[in-house]
Amino acid sequence: MFVYLNNKIVPASEAKVSVFDHGFLYGDGIYETMRVYDGVIFMLDEHIKRLYRSASLIGLNIPKKIPDIKISIYETLKANSLTNAYVRLTISRGYGTIGLDPDLCKEPTFVVMTNEFKSYPRSYYKEGIKSIISSVRRNLKEAINPQIKSLNFLNNILAKIEAKQADVYEAIMLNAEGYLTEGTISNIFFVKDNILCTPSVECGILDGITRAIVIDLALKNGLEVKEGKFTPEELYMASEVFITNTTMEVMPVSSIVDRTMHNTACIAHKPVGEISKLLLKKYQQEVN
Ligand code: PDD
Repeated sequence: MFVYLNNKIVPASEAKVSVFDHGFLYGDGIYETMRVYDGVIFMLDEHIKRLYRSASLIGLNIPKKIPDIKISIYETLKANSLTNAYVRLTISRGYGTIGLDPDLCKEPTFVVMTNEFKSYPRSYYKEGIKSIISSVRRNLKEAINPQIKSLNFLNNILAKIEAKQADVYEAIMLNAEGYLTEGTISNIFFVKDNILCTPSVECGILDGITRAIVIDLALKNGLEVKEGKFTPEELYMASEVFITNTTMEVMPVSSIVDRTMHNTACIAHKPVGEISKLLLKKYQQEVN
């Protein structure tokens, strides 16, 4: 396996980053996850655009021009002979002495990792995945803005730990006001009275690229879409629930357990609904 590190492709065993790297020391950096279908990186321009936005929001200078970033990803895919893959592009603040000041780091560390895409179990799509409403809140917009796809993921990791303890796959987080935001690595949608609802960006979410495509597909297929502030209760009452991200595409959610009060008083069971199935089908037509 080969990895792109700074300016060259190296064997994975030689792809090493210093312990003084501020990505390691402070989670100071950004990333993107992309999906490759039949040799083509899906929505590459959108991912690069979001990468630049994340960089700008943390005051990081990306050490490459856009065409060179694209070349670095395609070269890594080629070195690994991959056509159906996922790509993880990471840029950290780089090597520096200990201290928070970003100016301690001269040069960002730039890494592209690729791997064969392994499909999720079919049962996840046929039966849906289980979830919780986590007691861990999403980052405040005023703190680490969730629109920054940052390496600082501890909040979401704490929610994921809670999900694992509850033996479910995904944890949905609320914001400080108690409104729904998103999953640990996914955006959330639900259907209420035939309207497709999803928390708005203002609630404090990452504006997922898959989310935007799904909204577009829903509108094109005659569905009404509402972006706004929603409560967990509205999720429990929904006829269908699903999550989206670059690798999951459109994944149905079959149950939601409320862990916000550290109890399991509220458990909502959901069948895999027709709108979820339709949007997954349309999404898959889009990528192929
Ligand atoms: N995560 N929300 C969060 C917090 C995410 O981390 C992600 C993506 C999404 C969905 O974004 P998109 O549709 O652009 O993939 C929403 C990626 C997959 C990851 O962490 O690897």
